[in-house]
Amino acid sequence: MTKPLEGIKIIDFTHVQAGPACTQLLAWFGADVIKVERPGSGDVTRNQLRDIPDADALYFTMLNSNKKSLTLDTKKPEGKEVLEKLIRESDVLVENFGPGALDRMGFSWERLNELNPKMIVASVKGFSDGHHYDDLKVYENVAQCAGGAASTTGFWDGPPTISAAALGDSNTGMHLAIGILTALIGRGKTGKGQKVAVSMQDSVLNLCRVKLRDQQRLERVGYLEEYPQYPHGEFSDVVPRGGNAGGGGQPGWVLKCKGWETDPNAYIYFTIQGHAWEPICKALGKPEWIDDPAYKTAEARQPHIFEIFGTIEGWLADKTKFEAVDILRKFDIPCAPVLTMKELANDPSLRASGTIVEVQHKKRGSYLTVGSPIKFSDMKPEVTASPLLGEHTDEVLTSLGYSRQDIFNLHEIKAV
Ligand code: COA
Repeated sequence: MTKPLEGIKIIDFTHVQAGPACTQLLAWFGADVIKVERPGSGDVTRNQLRDIPDADALYFTMLNSNKKSLTLDTKKPEGKEVLEKLIRESDVLVENFGPGALDRMGFSWERLNELNPKMIVASVKGFSDGHHYDDLKVYENVAQCAGGAASTTGFWDGPPTISAAALGDSNTGMHLAIGILTALIGRGKTGKGQKVAVSMQDSVLNLCRVKLRDQQRLERVGYLEEYPQYPHGEFSDVVPRGGNAGGGGQPGWVLKCKGWETDPNAYIYFTIQGHAWEPICKALGKPEWIDDPAYKTAEARQPHIFEIFGTIEGWLADKTKFEAVDILRKFDIPCAPVLTMKELANDPSLRASGTIVEVQHKKRGSYLTVGSPIKFSDMKPEVTASPLLGEHTDEVLTSLGYSRQDIFNLHEIKAV
């Protein structure tokens, strides 16, 4: 089956997570992604948090599947020459170096556009161009702080908190992938490439948009009725951390189930959807709450919402998180067990859908990785192993017209 992005050649000048997550997605969908790495060391994540000596770390393998690896010292003239050849025949170059690194290497946007006016040049940086912090190098947690996620995550009596989800890294990579695909469609109309830039701060903020909503509501009315601070606590002039509150119009909380005393994940998330109040009361065996004025409306419930959550926890006390969800689903109540990574890794539904896949790697043997979360009716993206460092160097150089002697010489001077 031909894949939609087959024939699109991408120079993957990315490292760590934000850039590689973007190019991996495009590779899953058929693009020919050539990862350019420094000879000898490669992407730093190959060595980070290794669990098997001498084998690429899972951090690398899980972000670089379906790609080729070309080692190239792009600071040496011979390496630059190879890169220029590659640029002339590629559709996209993706990079997430520190600010100014590509310019210092001699590949500014102007130069790239001169070498290949049809090429799309896509970049991730910590902050957008012209921002007063645009000289900063940025990693995940820095972006979560700069994009508003940290100040609004966690509990009100604790410090700003980082999410385990890669809001700064992979999320930015996903935004960049959308930008690249948009620019490719644009090129189909204009024949011209363009520069696509996504900052980690902007991508985090884009996901925190409801908190920007809340800031404006707070400034207007002085309180946020869906936050645990309402109506008994105090609000300042900034959006507070709301613990496990729902965040939208539906109150919710993480509630203890049977076994929580010894199992730190024996919890469910329970949502009190306004119009589902009657089925909730029926599920909990509390029919008297249905028409009780103290419970009947969302407004009436909010002042004692934690007493209601406490009653639900009483109901949950003799049910495991799975048993509870099996009952509540029959009443159409939005809820889920709090799942651990172990439970997710072994979930047969996720294996069947290709969301978690087992891949064979030349050095590691088999490992688990995430597959495409995007499902298509006409294509099932297949996940293949990440490349060894420089595994495709000779293949790529040959395709660029280099002879065996040329390739030998490039190896000799360690340009590749
Ligand atoms: N050959 C020769 N030199 C190479 C090379 C290659 N194949 N690949 C990279 N380099 C050089 C770069 O040119 C740069 O050199 P210079 O600083 O002398 O100009 C150098 O390697 C280091 O690049 P840099 O990206 O600054 O690495 P770093 O390890 O210091 O910083 C980050 C890492 C992630 C903090 C930084 O890249 C960054 O802020 N990126 C943008 C935001 C981002 O994507 N963050 C990561 C999210 S996971």
